Amino acid sequence: MTISALAYVVVRSPQIGAWRAFAEQVVGMSAHDLPGGLALRLDERAGRVFVESSEEDRYFASGWEVRSAQDFQAALARLQALGIRYHQGSAADCAFRHVFDMVWFLDPSGNRHELALGFVSAFDRFSSPVGVPGFVTGDLGMGHMVLPAPQIEDTRQFLEAALGFGLSDVLIHRPFGKGGPEQRIYFMHCANGRHHSLALFEGTVPSGCVHLMVEVETMDEVGRAYDRMLAAGVPLMATLGRHTNDHMTSFYMATPSGFALEYGYGGRTIDWDRHTVFESTSVSLWGHDFSVGFGAAEPDHLAAAA
Ligand SMILES: [Fe+2]
Repeated sequence: MTISALAYVVVRSPQIGAWRAFAEQVVGMSAHDLPGGLALRLDERAGRVFVESSEEDRYFASGWEVRSAQDFQAALARLQALGIRYHQGSAADCAFRHVFDMVWFLDPSGNRHELALGFVSAFDRFSSPVGVPGFVTGDLGMGHMVLPAPQIEDTRQFLEAALGFGLSDVLIHRPFGKGGPEQRIYFMHCANGRHHSLALFEGTVPSGCVHLMVEVETMDEVGRAYDRMLAAGVPLMATLGRHTNDHMTSFYMATPSGFALEYGYGGRTIDWDRHTVFESTSVSLWGHDFSVGFGAAEPDHLAAAA
């Protein structure tokens, strides 16, 4: 397995001020100015969400963590052996992401993935402007995201072959009932216990991402974030609920760049030697009314799942 965790994500947006306010006053991240954008911290690392000032307004890239220079070289050899064309990250890109080294490439659905090595940290205590004690990161990575994948089979095979992801489980949505067309979501894990670090949604999404998930340490912190969302007038995208597959209790709200942020607690960790891949026919044990923000008539609303 090449990838140890989701290290960071990159957003491109002209709305730097809106991102700062959302991150600090609603999510509880700390925001730090960078030349050309913002670093948003969730822990002691220099940043987990990097917002690059741009005319574009979208989720831009997923940054995957490689543990050592040897693993990084092995990962590049694997890409070369598979004939996958990758690009060296520029010095400016590496500096913006606070990494030693980075290469990037696109999957068959056009999502940008970055392999990164060496993460800057001041090892000072994370300090949330609204008093969030901490986010669940460390070995589990910064969270998970759901990416659009109109070419879902090719994309899954690419991620398995190129990055060593494994399939955790599958959700098959049939908006017109049994026998009708199917819309799939593949939940995938890397080399840590988080149920999924990435999921693929069989469809297109203009913002480049269905949702990004961050996890806090207690249910009370989810409730407090919910209160801050209401106070700030941030749109709710899905009501509070608990997911069937990763057991996350969470709600969804809108980010300034058009994709959702899932704010959760209590995600289970998996021993992959004892896990059996399954198909789920339900998104949530209770709650998670996606019609609130994703549209009741749109089958795509299930894209927010887990
Ligand atoms: Fe999720």
